Amino acid sequence: VQTVVTIPVVVHVLYKNATQNVSDAQIQSQLAVLNADFRKLNSDFNTVVPAAFQSAAADLEINFCLATKDNNGNTTTGIIRKSVSNNFVFDDYYYSAANGGDAAWNTTKYLNIWVGAFTDTDLLGWAYPPAAAGYANDGLCIAYQVFGTVGTAGQAPYQTYNKGRTATHEIGHYFGLDHIWGEGDYTNIPDSSVCGTALWSDGCADTPATYYPYFGAPTYPNNQYTCTNTNSGAMFMNYMDYVNDGSMAMFTNNQKTITQTVLSSPRASLLN
Ligand code: ARG
Ligand code: ZN
Ligand code: CA
Repeated sequence: VQTVVTIPVVVHVLYKNATQNVSDAQIQSQLAVLNADFRKLNSDFNTVVPAAFQSAAADLEINFCLATKDNNGNTTTGIIRKSVSNNFVFDDYYYSAANGGDAAWNTTKYLNIWVGAFTDTDLLGWAYPPAAAGYANDGLCIAYQVFGTVGTAGQAPYQTYNKGRTATHEIGHYFGLDHIWGEGDYTNIPDSSVCGTALWSDGCADTPATYYPYFGAPTYPNNQYTCTNTNSGAMFMNYMDYVNDGSMAMFTNNQKTITQTVLSSPRASLLN
C-alpha cells in the first residue's frame, strides 16, 4: 500500500525590486496549492471536474514542505532571497551564482524552485523532466506573477494564472507527466491526422486523446480537439492541459502510475 511521501522544497527568490521579492506568505500559499492539488484536496474539484471524469481522478499522494535542513544539515527556512540585476531568459543561468543566479541545493535531495521575472511575458514557468535528475538546472523556474495565490499572484498580464496552478502543472512535468496531447508540436494548426501516433500521446488511457491544447475556460463537454468524439469529450480540466488556473482541477489514475514510477526511480533520492 502506497503511503504519502513528502518532498523537501527550497525556494530561491531572485528579485530585482521589492515587488518581485515575494513574501513568505506568498510562498506558503503556493505550497498550500500543491498540497491540495497533489492530494486531490483542492476545494474546486467538484465544481470544475465533471461527474463523468471524477472516478478517473487520483490522489497522487505527494506532499511538499519547505526544507528544514540545508545541504550541510543546518537549520533553514527553505527560502533564499537574492537581489539580482537580470531577468530570467529561458534556460539562462538562474542556477549559476557566477552568472548572477543562485545555485541549486543538491537536486537529488530537494525540489529547487526559482521565482523571478522573465523577459518573455508569454512564459509562465518551466520544469525539467525526470531525465534531468541530478543536474544543476533540475527543478522549476516560475514567474513571480503566477506564483502562489496572494501578493503578486495574478498581476497583469497574468490575471488568469492566479491560483498557483502553473507550479502544479510544472511539477507534473518534473514527475514525468506529459501534456495531454503528448509531445507533438501543436503550434502549426490543429491537425487531427496526428491522432494515434506515439508522439501525440501522453501514455495515459484515462486522458482522452486530443491533438491540440485547450486554452482559456472551455465549456464541457467539448470535442473540438478530441481524436474520438465522446459524450464527455476532452479532459481539458486536467492540470496537464493549458486552460486557465480556474479551469483545471485534476490528475488521473494513469498519471499517478507515472509519478509513482518516477518516485521509485529516478527521483527516489528526494525521499531519503
Ligand atoms: N505553458 C506552460 C508549460 O507548458 C505552463 C502552462 C500552465 N497553465 C496554467 N493554467 N497555469 O509548461
Ligand atoms: Zn507544460
Ligand atoms: Ca491520453
